[in-house]
Amino acid sequence: MAISFASATIFSKPSLFLQRSGLSLRLRFSSFSTSSAALHSDKFHAHKKWRHPVAASLIELGGVKISREEIVKDDPTNNVPDSIFSKLGMQLHRRDQHPLGILKNAIYDYFDTNYPSKFDKFDNLCPIVSVKANFDDVLVPADHVSRSYNDTYYVDSQTVLRCHTSAHQAELLSKGHTHFLVTGDVYRRDSIDSTHYPVFHQMEGVRVFTPADWEGSGMDATSYAAEDLKKCLEGLARHLFGGVEMRWIDTYFPFTSPSFELEIFFQEKWLEVLGCGVMEQEILRRSGRMDNVAWAFGLGLERLAMVLFDIPDIRLFWTMDERFTSQFSRGQLGVKFKPFSKYPPCYKDMSFWISDAFTENNLCEVVRGIAGDLVEEVKLIDNFTNKKGMTSHCYRIAYRSMERSLTDEEINDLQWKVREQVESKLKVVLR
Ligand code: DAH
Repeated sequence: MAISFASATIFSKPSLFLQRSGLSLRLRFSSFSTSSAALHSDKFHAHKKWRHPVAASLIELGGVKISREEIVKDDPTNNVPDSIFSKLGMQLHRRDQHPLGILKNAIYDYFDTNYPSKFDKFDNLCPIVSVKANFDDVLVPADHVSRSYNDTYYVDSQTVLRCHTSAHQAELLSKGHTHFLVTGDVYRRDSIDSTHYPVFHQMEGVRVFTPADWEGSGMDATSYAAEDLKKCLEGLARHLFGGVEMRWIDTYFPFTSPSFELEIFFQEKWLEVLGCGVMEQEILRRSGRMDNVAWAFGLGLERLAMVLFDIPDIRLFWTMDERFTSQFSRGQLGVKFKPFSKYPPCYKDMSFWISDAFTENNLCEVVRGIAGDLVEEVKLIDNFTNKKGMTSHCYRIAYRSMERSLTDEEINDLQWKVREQVESKLKVVLR
């Protein structure tokens, strides 16, 4: 798990993305973590690689060919497993008939209608970025937990799989873009459940203003940008969700000040839609834009698509099962997904004494490395510390295929491998 920035109360909230339940996820730069702050080398060394063969060993990203060996390396500063390499280049957001592509296009439509020919659109930028672009350029503090090996996939000490589309802000600003949308796959080590997957998709939006924009308004530059931002995003939310009730929540991000979250009242609940704010002056200054102000926003496409299309499990976005894919077509936002019969889950519990280096993200990566998308959830169901100070965790693993019934033998085999690797790789003692 990960993060927080929120000013004074750093690390005080017990969850990764504001609320850990439901769909209020993924805005990790505004939220909090239970994991102790910096994991850095210790935890990383406890987490060696677990691999299984993958089909493609050469992929093309934004016109550049990249081999598996460049991304999955036997090197202590690399923590990218094959299961993640196999997702690079899938680009679900570029498929017009896929819910994520349909949603991206619906957002494009909103910007094209309201700001004709204004916003430059990028959806094919390489997800392998420098640590500088991912963190430093957007002012993520040097000791921030999101930089840890427990939370982020490192290709080497200076290169990561982007953990947010904000990683492209500074570069695009420096290149002279003043209105842009960046959509892409983003990568985060995380726990496993129906709303968390280590790869998901975000869209970033940025708009820059010059003094001529705000000078006649009677407002100061920041208020002007904040007001324009709110109007733009309220319009976007109405475009996607219809006439819903909305509210703005003040929050904290390292890259914006002031910072906000937009929530909408949808299906009887307040749903966090996006994070945004007025861009920190320092980001603009470093990009050579001294006397400008800008707004920025970031939204998670899966989260919105799950509620707009009634998709109950984040793994479904990745399935090739025709019973899923055939239900969506280009331009059809919000068609309700009709669940096909679910195959039964199979639960396996495992208990172990943890060591100091243990983290739930590492456990989840072991399980996912072995069982792939057959693992539906990894849940802590018991946790105690004995008189000697030893702490025991019991996890319940739910295995379920979206596509077929799993045999007992298959599950037992998987569970056996999980037990073996949990013990050898995470340095815990099975009970
Ligand atoms: N990068 C943030 C995240 O992944 C989302 C975000 C928040 C992007 C506010 C922004 C912003 O551009 O202004 O959690």
